[in-house]
Amino acid sequence: MKTPSGIELHPAIQAGGTIEALRKAAITCRACPLWKNATQTVFGEGPSRATLMFVGEQPGDQEDLAGHPFVGPAGQLLTRAMAAAGIPREQVYVTNAVKHFKFELRGKRRLHKKPIDAEITACYAWLKREIQVVAPSLLIALGATAVRSLLGRATPVMANRGKLQEYAPDMSLLITVHPSFLLRVPEQEKDNEYRQFVTDLKLARRFLRST
Ligand code: URA
Repeated sequence: MKTPSGIELHPAIQAGGTIEALRKAAITCRACPLWKNATQTVFGEGPSRATLMFVGEQPGDQEDLAGHPFVGPAGQLLTRAMAAAGIPREQVYVTNAVKHFKFELRGKRRLHKKPIDAEITACYAWLKREIQVVAPSLLIALGATAVRSLLGRATPVMANRGKLQEYAPDMSLLITVHPSFLLRVPEQEKDNEYRQFVTDLKLARRFLRST
């Protein structure tokens, strides 16, 4: 939709104020070109009053086909690490900085491609609305793209991981690695890196709403 002066409004600005309304509006988002090759928009999922919001990079191959975030190998590892840290996945909201799968075709394989700043910025309008609606007590940024989106600037993950920082009034931020990093590290480092990831996630557990 355009304003009377002809300015194209981002669809996230016009969407209703619930996660369902945002999800519906995001189906037809054309704010960046990534929709053209992706199967579908993969929006965030989880309780709309969750106190923890996990933010990843973008849907992968399996998420693109299934239409749900973090269901592929990285998602399964994330769910296992959450459980090890005492965080039931069904109690948290899980989303991505970018809502379409960006890839490069290599034969029949769709190889993940990192989103560029313009794509991250275009999609931030959705993430911002998700944060406003869910109003979590803690945002967990998984990897560099999530951090770039949430802080608006490139920020080193390793130097800042595992520390709680203030993000907004009544909202903290925890930076940690992306679970796909754990899938890529050399075999002999996997256990140690996984343990450190779980240690980071244990900091998040205290933000779970006690029921
Ligand atoms: N990696 C992400 O960052 N998000 C997903 O949903 C899946 C893999």
